[in-house]
Amino acid sequence: SLTAPTALVTPIQIPPLSHPSPIQLSLVIPTYNEASSIQSLISQLCGSLDTVLPGAYELIVVDDNSPDHTAKVAQELQGQLPQLKVICRQQERGLATAVLRGWQVSQGEVLGVIDGDLQHPPEMILKLWQPMQRGADLAVGSRYAESGGVSYWSLGRRIISRGAQLIGLAILPGVLGRVSDPLSGLFLVRRKSIAGIPLNPKGYKLLIEVLARGRVGTIEEVGYVFQERQNGESKIQLRTCIQYLQHLIHLRLSLGPLGSFLRFSTVGLSGTFVDMILLYFLHDPSNLGWGLMASKLISSEVAILNNFLWNDLWTFRSVTKLQPGALNRLKRLVKFNVICLIGLLLNSFLLILLSEYLGIHYLLANLIAIGIVVFWNFYLNFKLSWRV
Ligand code: GDD
Ligand code: MN
Repeated sequence: SLTAPTALVTPIQIPPLSHPSPIQLSLVIPTYNEASSIQSLISQLCGSLDTVLPGAYELIVVDDNSPDHTAKVAQELQGQLPQLKVICRQQERGLATAVLRGWQVSQGEVLGVIDGDLQHPPEMILKLWQPMQRGADLAVGSRYAESGGVSYWSLGRRIISRGAQLIGLAILPGVLGRVSDPLSGLFLVRRKSIAGIPLNPKGYKLLIEVLARGRVGTIEEVGYVFQERQNGESKIQLRTCIQYLQHLIHLRLSLGPLGSFLRFSTVGLSGTFVDMILLYFLHDPSNLGWGLMASKLISSEVAILNNFLWNDLWTFRSVTKLQPGALNRLKRLVKFNVICLIGLLLNSFLLILLSEYLGIHYLLANLIAIGIVVFWNFYLNFKLSWRV
């Protein structure tokens, strides 16, 4: 009989747990030609996890049919270790999807990943488990947090690593800016933070995908020193770097500024109410009856302050988080205010054009003018005020 080739469906979704599971932690070990370190890694992991999570964890080796028979070496350990699963992929390739395929068949409430080459210290898993127990959604092993490092890296390698991070920050500040080491391959994440979400990572950097698309609230970081490779070799190639860039661009386009534009517009709507009510209160003959120009200036400035507050706290919160402190906030306020005041000149010009010359009721004219100026304001503030 004929067997159809396994359908490789991308994007990949992690199913939620259908029933309560005794497994608390599912740790995936992606491997490609790691036969020389897999046994030592697994025994170290079991040694430490047995003390804290006896019977409540699983290890899942996901190998891509390595020529050095890593999968076979791992399978031979399964006799003594019922908590060990081994997947040997025949068709799919790549680190990030390997991890997702492992998580897909896992049962744990918490999902994790650790490299198979011992460059990530096995004892880190327990250190990352602690913040997860305290309720964190994501615990990241970081080379750039306190007590972290990269052992004997040359200056060139450090620059490339940091450069890759900076490029990522430039393209996706709100995503990569959330952690000190967004390119880390060592982390634990709560299943419910990613379950049911279509994930489509390219290449190596799964953490970026999780940060970008997951429902990740609290994040904790634990510093660690990236060990030198003792056996085998790194699988990073030029292709891996290109995939990283593709991944960033893909995320940039699919996330887009749409989210922040929608929030910005909502805030703008609240500002419009502030503006309209105040304008009515100051200008309408039944109230203070001030001149249209003076009334409009005051109502607008109050609306600008209202909008700044909500934009800083909500619309661009991911950027705000990266630039804390009162001085930074003041700088953003000044930029926002200047841009909005120029917008206001445009607004006033349109208001007068529409109301004085075209005879549209001044409140309706103001509404139309504001609608046009929203685009101006969003674009410039997005580019200038909340830029990383
Ligand atoms: N299944 C599978 N398929 N595993 C893979 C593949 C693949 O295509 N490519 C790499 N791996 C496995 C390796 O065997 C190793 O266990 C792990 O993924 C990491 O690969 P390395 O090639 O050793 O990467 P690295 O050491 O340069 O960088 C790692 O650590 C960095 C710091 O945390 C990666 O995890 C990086 O993403 C990370 O930034
Ligand atoms: Mn490695």
